[in-house]
Amino acid sequence: MSGHGGSAGGASGQRRPPSDADLSTSSREELVRLGSALDGVTIAHREDPFPVPGTRAEKRTERKIARWFIIAALAGLGFLAAYLFWPYEYAPPGSPGSRHLLYQLYTPIIGVLLGLSVFAIGGGTIAYAKDLLPHEMAVQERHIGGSAEVDRVTASAILADSGASSGIGRRSLIKRAGGLGAAVLSAGLGVFALGGLIRNPWKGGDRAALWVTPWRSDNGEPVFLRYDAEQLTLARPEDLDAGSIATVFPYKRSWSAQQAHDALRASDSPVMLIRLRPEQAAQVVQRKGQVDFHYGDFYAYSKICTHLGCPASLYESQTARLLCPCHQSQFDMLEYAKPIFGPATRALPQLHIDVNDEGYFYAKGDFVEPVGPAFWERRS
Ligand code: FES
Repeated sequence: MSGHGGSAGGASGQRRPPSDADLSTSSREELVRLGSALDGVTIAHREDPFPVPGTRAEKRTERKIARWFIIAALAGLGFLAAYLFWPYEYAPPGSPGSRHLLYQLYTPIIGVLLGLSVFAIGGGTIAYAKDLLPHEMAVQERHIGGSAEVDRVTASAILADSGASSGIGRRSLIKRAGGLGAAVLSAGLGVFALGGLIRNPWKGGDRAALWVTPWRSDNGEPVFLRYDAEQLTLARPEDLDAGSIATVFPYKRSWSAQQAHDALRASDSPVMLIRLRPEQAAQVVQRKGQVDFHYGDFYAYSKICTHLGCPASLYESQTARLLCPCHQSQFDMLEYAKPIFGPATRALPQLHIDVNDEGYFYAKGDFVEPVGPAFWERRS
C-alpha cells in the first residue's frame, strides 16, 4: 500500500483508484489515511488525551464517567420500582398512613427518577466524548453524487478506527456501567410503555370498575343524591328552580366518612340533576325503556361526556342543551340527552331517580349502561 500516496494524485495529476489487491492488503490505518485523502479530508489537529493507556489519570477519568452511568442505572431502577410498586391510587387528605402524601408524590417521583436516568446517560456520554475521545479537527470537502466502492470500504475502516481509537474496547468499567445504565433505562421505558396494558380492567367480572358506579346498591339500601358541600346535604325537589341544574353525588347512610368521601371523588359519580321548565317538560321525548326514570320535571344524567370523559355541565336553559367544553359536543336534554352536535355519539346515561317519604331524592339503581367514553367490550 506504499503506493497509495500516489493514488490520490499521480504524475498525470489524476487520482488512480487502488486495486482490489491493494485494498485487501492494506492495514486499517492505511485505509483510514487513504479514505481521508480520497474524501478530501484534511486532519488539521488530532490529539489523544491519554496516549499511554492505563495511567492513573485515565483510570480516574474512567471512574468519573462510570459514576454517571451508575447514577443512570440506580435512577432507572428507582423509576421501575416506583412505577410498579408505589401506592399510586387516589387517597383523600387525612387518609391513614400518609396515603394521601404518597399518592401526591407518585407522579413527581417517577418523573424525577426517569428524568435523572436520562440526564445521567446524557452526562456520561458527553463526559466520555469530552474526556476520552481523541480531540480532532478535520476539514472535508463535499462531493456530489453517490459513493464508489472504494469510498464505502474506506468509510467502514474509518468508522472501525473511530471505535478503536475511542478506547471503548479496553475500558471495561465504562462499558459495563454504560451498558447497565442503558439496559435499566430501556427496561424502565419498556415497562412504562406496556405497563398500562398489563392491568386487567375486567377483574371482578360483572362488578368490574367499568360496569358499576358508586350509585349501585346491592342490599336495597337507598343511594341518596347529595351535594358536594362541607356539611352533608341531601338533594330535595324544592332546592332547584325551574330551568336550573345541580351536580349531585351518591350517598348511603351506612357509609363511613371515608366511603362517602371516596364516592364524592370517584370519576363516575357526578350526576347532573336538571329541573326542566314546565313548558319544556311537556315536550320531552323519553328513551325507550326509561320512560319512568325521571321524577316530574327532574331528570338526572351522568355528567361524564360520552366522547372522552370530560365533565359536561354548561347548561343552556332556554334551549335545554348541554355543552361539553372539551370538544363542543352538545346534548339535547329534551330528548334523553342524545348528542346533536360534536364528536360524542352516545347519549348521556340516565339515572333512575325518585323521592322517598322524607322528601329526598334517591337513585332506584345504578346506571343501566356504562358511563363515560366507549370501550370495546361495552354492550350498548
Ligand atoms: S369530551 Fe366532551 S366533547 Fe370531547
